[in-house]
Amino acid sequence: MIRDGNDPAEVQTAARALAAGELLGLPTETVYGLAANALDDAAVAAIFAAKGRPSDHPLIVHVCGPEQAEQFASDIPVFARRLMAHFWPGPLTLIVPRRPGVGAVAAGGQASIGLRCPSHPVAQAVLAACEHLGVPGLAAPSANRFGRISPTCAAHVVAELGTALRVLDGGPCPVGIESTIIDCSRGAPVLLRPGHILPADIEAVAGIALEAPDRLRAPQPRASGTLEAHYAPSAPVRLMDAKALQTGLDLLGPDARHLAVYARTVLRSPSEHVVWRRMPSDAVSAAQQLFATLRHFDERGVRLIWVETPPVDPAWDGVRDRLCRAAAAS
Ligand code: TXA
Ligand code: MG
Repeated sequence: MIRDGNDPAEVQTAARALAAGELLGLPTETVYGLAANALDDAAVAAIFAAKGRPSDHPLIVHVCGPEQAEQFASDIPVFARRLMAHFWPGPLTLIVPRRPGVGAVAAGGQASIGLRCPSHPVAQAVLAACEHLGVPGLAAPSANRFGRISPTCAAHVVAELGTALRVLDGGPCPVGIESTIIDCSRGAPVLLRPGHILPADIEAVAGIALEAPDRLRAPQPRASGTLEAHYAPSAPVRLMDAKALQTGLDLLGPDARHLAVYARTVLRSPSEHVVWRRMPSDAVSAAQQLFATLRHFDERGVRLIWVETPPVDPAWDGVRDRLCRAAAAS
């Protein structure tokens, strides 16, 4: 059931349902989340079950602000505090040492915990209402079945998880890809997942350089967003440069069917059956539209998705990362 996230009465009802142990489809500025009280182990277990996600893959806990982060974390490094102060609320998740005895199920048993303070007004309103009811944080992975494309509007959540789930509609997500994740639990900051907030800006604010993941000896935490194959539509995805795309189209000729093409470059289509979508030429708009576009191709029933490789530019890393994982999954 989809409810109006901008209606304060619906926000209150949703917060009470969360406090009572129910799950909620929650809009954030990145993607929609599947939220539960982070301290309610049974509700958190229901998230894993609904998503079909292995229970040792940690969830992100969403909080109102840095103050609430203290309830879940211990020994937050100074550079992580700087990142919180500058980028929260916003699309940045920080992995920090977990406060012993708190949020173990949400953290998938890790000694660390992922914390994020979303900027979306509906998410903020729900978090504030929950805090009032004694719920200090919401565990919320993206509201899709494990391995599938993240939802960027309320209807996508229903398509993934069914009509029985309460979903607050907060409109289409303005960022469109999941938050940047920085691991702050291993001494130096490490980029685990690229997103809207870019490494150069992280380094400038943290006052410390990002470390490459493989240069640290400590074992890598589990992170399903860092699995090589993820974010997959049903149809296989192939990445190619514009020249290879045109050659492929010409080879298929007028009989090309069940094919979708997503490219920035204008190409000649040899067949009227090809499903076209133009990739925006700026990375921010491309990220905004990416998951909805892949879903659209699935809905059109195509059997193959050809995508023009994104430019080599840090601003495109988030989009390229999601596309590479979608391609690896198929
Ligand atoms: O933008 C987002 O981050 C969205 C919205 C809903 O906030 N959430 C999201 O959650 O993408 P999810 O669960 O789909 O991806 C979270 C990623 C996973 O790859 C998870 O493994 C990783 O964060 N993660 C969470 N806690 C962690 C921890 N303690 N150590 C390492 N990775 C962690
Ligand atoms: Mg996810």
